[in-house]
Amino acid sequence: MIELKTPGEIDAMREAGRVVAAVHAEMRSRAAVGVSLLDLDELARKVIAGAGAKPSFLGYHPSFGGSPYPGVICTSVNGVILHGLPTSYRLRDGDLLTVDCAAHVEGWHADAAVSFVVGRVRQEDQELIRVAGAALAAGIEAAVPGARMGDIGHVMSRIVRGAGYGMQNDFAGHGIGRAMHEAPFVPNVGRPGRGLRLVPGLVIAIEPSLMAGGGDDYQMGSDGWSLLTGDGSRGAHVEHTVAITEDGPVVLTLP
Ligand code: MF3
Ligand code: CO
Repeated sequence: MIELKTPGEIDAMREAGRVVAAVHAEMRSRAAVGVSLLDLDELARKVIAGAGAKPSFLGYHPSFGGSPYPGVICTSVNGVILHGLPTSYRLRDGDLLTVDCAAHVEGWHADAAVSFVVGRVRQEDQELIRVAGAALAAGIEAAVPGARMGDIGHVMSRIVRGAGYGMQNDFAGHGIGRAMHEAPFVPNVGRPGRGLRLVPGLVIAIEPSLMAGGGDDYQMGSDGWSLLTGDGSRGAHVEHTVAITEDGPVVLTLP
């Protein structure tokens, strides 16, 4: 069942979204060569607790996860596309890092992810991240009342494939609200004019993930969580929580 949110509920979700944005700002400023993924997880815990919020990932155990989730962020490095566990791995110069985080305030969740490079940036990584951001922005722009779910995936996949990158669609966007994962599924690929009609009050996380090598194959990591590119190329993943309103899409995961 799809639960539409009232304007007041959307405001409550925006509070959670601000906390998630604060986590991402902290990650961007603190991720550096020699810093471990567990260090980042610890910093994220502090930001969330300091804001009076609660982490959505910690202890979460969906059917696709190998165990209750041990951290408050996902940290996906280089060939890991999504759901990388925070480990003792220390970041190295030129690593492509994706941090995914969700938090809830008074039971209302918000979820977002960012990709960036630690240290010296390779031009091909910068381009992959730029295209990921462009796909997300186009997906958000397509999330207007009266449009269809397929329009979102259509514009995103056109941009990603047009740039020659691969894309997986098994782990994609989702409804969000009182739970981090709610109906409906928000595909990364789609056909224009097809699928669920988008209406005011629908709140969704849009989250394209790209594979630099151009193939669509991925592998599950031995930790039961990580999703790795099939060809060892780098992945990027970006996400925002977006409310569809009478006035158009409103991004809730901003400072
Ligand atoms: N943004 C990710 C998703 O929606 C977060 C899930 S990580 C988990 O798939 F640990 F909570 F599962
Ligand atoms: Co999500």
